[in-house]
Amino acid sequence: MTDSAETRFRTSLLEENDGPPVNPTDNRTMGEIIAARFSRRGFLKGSLAVSAIAATVSPLALVAADDARATEGSAFKFDELEAGIDEKHHVAPGYDADVLLRWGDPLFADSPEFDPTRQSAEAQAKQFGYNNDYVGYIPIGGSAEHGLLVVNHEYTNPHLMFPGIVNIVEKDGKKAAEVAPLSKEQVDVEMAAHGGTIVEIRKQGGKWQVVRDGKLNRRIMSTTAMALSGPVAGHDRVKTNADPSGTKVIGTLNNCAGGVTPWGTYVMAEENIHGYFSGELPEGHKEAANYKRLGIPEGAYEWGAHYDRFNLSKEPNEPNRFGWIVEVDVNDPNSVPRKRTAMGRFKHEGAESIVARDGRVVFYLGDDERFDYVYKFVTSGMFNPNDRAANMNLLDNGTLHVAKFAEDGSLEWMPIVFGQGPLTAENGFAGQADVLIETRRAADLLGATKMDRPEDIQPNAGNGKVYVMLTNNSKRKADQVDAANPRAANAFGHIIEIVEDGGDFTAAKGKWEVLLKCGDPSVADVGATFSTATTANGWFGMPDNCAVDSAGRLWVATDGQGPKATGRTDGLWAVDTDGAARATSKLFFRVPIGAEMCGPLFAPDDQTAFVSVQHPGDGGEDWEGFGRPSYYEDPSTRWPDFKPDMPVRPSVVAITRQGGGKIGL
Ligand code: FEO
Ligand code: CA
Ligand code: CA
Repeated sequence: MTDSAETRFRTSLLEENDGPPVNPTDNRTMGEIIAARFSRRGFLKGSLAVSAIAATVSPLALVAADDARATEGSAFKFDELEAGIDEKHHVAPGYDADVLLRWGDPLFADSPEFDPTRQSAEAQAKQFGYNNDYVGYIPIGGSAEHGLLVVNHEYTNPHLMFPGIVNIVEKDGKKAAEVAPLSKEQVDVEMAAHGGTIVEIRKQGGKWQVVRDGKLNRRIMSTTAMALSGPVAGHDRVKTNADPSGTKVIGTLNNCAGGVTPWGTYVMAEENIHGYFSGELPEGHKEAANYKRLGIPEGAYEWGAHYDRFNLSKEPNEPNRFGWIVEVDVNDPNSVPRKRTAMGRFKHEGAESIVARDGRVVFYLGDDERFDYVYKFVTSGMFNPNDRAANMNLLDNGTLHVAKFAEDGSLEWMPIVFGQGPLTAENGFAGQADVLIETRRAADLLGATKMDRPEDIQPNAGNGKVYVMLTNNSKRKADQVDAANPRAANAFGHIIEIVEDGGDFTAAKGKWEVLLKCGDPSVADVGATFSTATTANGWFGMPDNCAVDSAGRLWVATDGQGPKATGRTDGLWAVDTDGAARATSKLFFRVPIGAEMCGPLFAPDDQTAFVSVQHPGDGGEDWEGFGRPSYYEDPSTRWPDFKPDMPVRPSVVAITRQGGGKIGL
């Protein structure tokens, strides 16, 4: 595979932020070095052949093996699914997992049927987009069986989407894949496949159906006209040749997770925006340091070859118009999505929210990069449950905070406000717009805690706590370990639980503890901390997305497992957080090989779990049993083992209990 082919073969590598860390500060290198350091290579050998490494099996795991797998006290009642790897998805016994939406499914009366051999931007604009990630549900008329599903389409995998662009060549005696440059038409398909989908769905006879041509159905794309609002709107640093006003942006990029606000709008988080930009800034350009802190330009996409706005030499300010939280009013299919700049600019993972006791609304925000930060945004205004219109600009005024996790288990939320502390002209900020455009640098100066890739962060109205998914950080060195990021070379990630002071989500301080260190608990060197009631199927690595159901129970979705990393595919695990069963985890659903698990989301009646299966089959050629290439190709000529029913399309799956009823009860 050539370098350029490798770049275009952008898959989970870019998605996982697997590039060099870009946080240049030495914040938070304090710390106790845990004894349980391990070499990743040594672990991998162990994890795939546990019986051969009895010497490293922990006493705790042995207890667990003898244990009757007691689940007394667990909030979850279902028969656990067996972990494993194959080309299909699987759900716990007694449940159905039905594909609801797949890439290319028609959304409107005039949508063409999906035909990957004749895909066009025009067709894609009327079909479900690619690589679905966040899933939200906005009830219609308060119903748990009729609503709008809102789904993010994070990125594109051209090698899986376009027939005939991959050539198999012999290189150094091995078979390798080379990807041809994309045509402008293919780039246009990619741009239409990004963004989001808003689609009416209805449950009939116990099964969910898409309402084709629902009157609020809509595609949001990388070509959709949007507005910049809040403190950065109109600032010089967001003005371009195409938009001298600095208020009108075309499109949204890399919408990873997101949220639904208490007032029923859809928020989309712009995450890995660096990949879309190419070219070079003019010599000595003032944005150079700003872009470097975000890894811009990364150049994984070829959009800059066809559109000037993605080429830094032509539109040097364009990247400042991405990396925001985007809010969409789903009640009006012609509404202009608004980039809410008050919520900061970084590699936004998600934006889950909760109404605090005093009526202000608190959004928890992760910046998914190794050694980057955990944030929360507190609106200035109060949520008005009786007047939707009164809430529509709540996200333009408020205070963004960044977290400092102390060794003693306390937590400080530091306001990111121009003029406070180091956020002054002396440090190159002329006002709040500068602070927000360079949120990461502002947080660096405040001394925020450098985390192991903050992904989804979920407030739980049920127990008043907040759950932070920290997916992994292979680059953390032993002398960079701290209490909140307690493992060097953290391959499997961990979950932190926050309790805000006084149970007030707006509080400036709180307490935290590690709920769970992930990975295989039977390998002592991994240092995983699942309860002894957790079975060999029940542990997981790489927590990414999560959900809390209306009973306040935590469900965790993973990204990055597979044959090499953990010997199992990604999936959805139920995790006890309270009582004697705390830190017990059980496998509920798992994805086909190559996919990551996104979503998840529970319908308001807890009778459906919607899960998002992203990039199924990607990387599957590394696993012999899969028998299909991880790229779109005529398989009959080159891959005789190809089976037509093997998954190739990202999809949203609706999980329901056979015969009806709540999930996991
Ligand atoms: Fe798009 Fe951080 O996962
Ligand atoms: Ca994610
Ligand atoms: Ca992910």
